[in-house]
Formats: sequence, C-alpha cells, structure tokens
Amino acid sequence: MNMDNSPAIAIENLSKTYKGKKRAQVEALKGMSLTVDQGEIFGFLGPNGAGKSTTIKCLVGLIQPTSGSARIKGIPVTQVESRRSMGYLPENPAFYDYLSAEEYLTFVGRTYRMSADQLTTRCREVLRQLELWDARKRPMRGYSKGMVQRVGLAQTLIHDPDVYILDEPMSGLDPIGRALVKEIIIDLKRRGKSVFFSTHITDDVEKVCDQVGVIVQGTLVAVDRVETILRSGVEGYQVHLRTPAGEPAAVIAGITPDRSNGPLAEYAVPCARFNAFMEAVNAAGADVALVETKRRDLEDFFLSLVHDHSPHR
Ligand SMILES: Nc1ncnc2c1ncn2[C@@H]1O[C@H](COP(=O)(O)OP(=O)(O)O)[C@@H](O)[C@H]1O
Ligand SMILES: [Mg+2]
Repeated sequence: MNMDNSPAIAIENLSKTYKGKKRAQVEALKGMSLTVDQGEIFGFLGPNGAGKSTTIKCLVGLIQPTSGSARIKGIPVTQVESRRSMGYLPENPAFYDYLSAEEYLTFVGRTYRMSADQLTTRCREVLRQLELWDARKRPMRGYSKGMVQRVGLAQTLIHDPDVYILDEPMSGLDPIGRALVKEIIIDLKRRGKSVFFSTHITDDVEKVCDQVGVIVQGTLVAVDRVETILRSGVEGYQVHLRTPAGEPAAVIAGITPDRSNGPLAEYAVPCARFNAFMEAVNAAGADVALVETKRRDLEDFFLSLVHDHSPHR
C-alpha cells in the first residue's frame, strides 16, 4: 500500500464513552467518521462539550477510543510512528514555564532527533514567524496568554510535520493573534500541509477552511465545502431601483417594494422570481442602483444545525 496516497486523517466509526463513577457515563463520541485529504484545511466546528477534544485526543493517542479506529497518513494511531509526522496543539497549552521559548523549542526539537544545525535554523525561523524572537530568552512564566498560545504553535511547527492537529488554536486570542494564527494555517496549506483544527467560532472557519465538519453531541451532523454551504445559503436578492422624481415606487412583477428610501425603492426578490423580476425591470426601463445577495451565513447554518440536533427541552 502506498502510504503517500492515504488521506492525512481517516477516522472510522469512532466512539468514546467515558466511564465515570456511580454509572455516570458520558457518550462523548457516537460512531464518528471523517476524512481529511492531504493538503486540506479542515475546520472541526462544534459547541462546547460536543466532543471535539475527545476526537483530537483519540487522534494523537492520548486516550483510547471505546470502538472504531483512526489513521494518520495510513498509519493507525495505535502505532507510535503515526505521530512522527504530526504536530499537535493541545487545548489550553501549559508549559514548564521556567524555560524560555527558545529552550523549550530546543528541547522539543531534540526529542524529534533533529540535528543541532537543523534545530538552530528551524528555531530561528519559527520564533520569527510567530513573533516570539524578541522574547525568546525570557522565561515563559512572564508571557501573555497570546504568547503562550504562539509557543504552543511553535512546538507543532518545529519539526516541520505534514499533518497538524490543533485544538482551538484561536481561543482566547485578540484579533491580531487570531489573524496571525490564520496566516500560519494558510501558509501551511500553501506548503502542501494538512491541518485539522477545532473551534466553536464560525468566523474562524469561514476564511481559512476548505472543508468544515459540524459536530453536535458526539455526532458529525454535516460535512461540506465552505463555499458550497455559503452558496446553498442564498435565499434571494435585495434589488434597489432608482425611482423617477415625484413618482411612487411601482409594483414590479407582482413584488411590492419593502421600502422607499428617498430616490431608491428596495425589493426583496426570492431566488425563484429573480429572472422574471429583472425582465420586468428591463421592460419598464427602470434603473438598477444595487443588487444585494441575501444569504444565510455560516453562523446561521451552524446555529440551525446545533438547534436541530440538540435534545428538546
Ligand atoms: N475525562 C472525562 N471524563 C468524563 N467526561 C468527559 C471527560 N472529558 C470530556 N468529557 C465529557 O465528554 C463530552 C465531550 O467533551 P469534549 O470532547 O471536551 O468537548 P469539546 O472539546 O467539544 O468542548 C462532554 O460532555 C464532557 O463533559
Ligand atoms: Mg475542547
């Protein structure tokens, strides 16, 4: 079998039940399957408690699934080799904070058996890319939350793996920090890497992901390309027409304007009636000022999925 053609991540029918005391069991994952192709950015979107971290911990071998399996580039996650070409950012990373970022990265690089020369070059690149260069010799206990998160990313990048598994990489960051993380993810894609990251914020997936999977209560309820979701959300158009001075806004193709705003009249036109409406506009010689697309965005899509798949109270 050619390992290089295997998907970056393949999850098959993964289930995890946490066995608590006094029969307090939590079915955190219920037979989940998904595939992330090589070179793809996959956004794993779900509300708190949906099972995102549980999935990720199974992928990186921190916990054992109750049933099902997962592979990284064709290698079962039960084998240590599956982690050789993987970078993992835990949720809320915490480091031995008497070390500096540079010392910590050197330590991580050595555990991946990087040579001293390789490590010096790569440390410099990564510290610069993550804007930690100036702080590299200071102990991490003095770092801000954003800096700690960037050290977390730095340690996933140091050995230049092919597959990145990031648990909420943008959580708790300010807009500048979020933008930097997005930039790094886009840069990884440019270099042909694969990224799987979890989030509960739709905005984070809208800009960077090829595919998005939505997990609610341990079940993957949707997987699609971001552009397909956005396109399927188009509900109609808001057409703004210029009205001749002194004349009331006309009813066109049976559609009454929702409002007249000075010299403009606005019409809410459903998709199915758009062609007929525009033909009537042309026939009447009316002047189009603006056509806006009315769409449900990713957040609407996400919220309605969460609503539909949550137990009714
Ligand atoms: N170690 C554990 N023991 C028992 N229940 C757990 C444990 N870890 C997580 N859970 C429960 O499993 C569910 C999924 O949690 P998690 O995977 O952390 O969700 P997410 O990362 O999407 O917020 C939650 O109900 C959570 O309370
Ligand atoms: Mg989590």
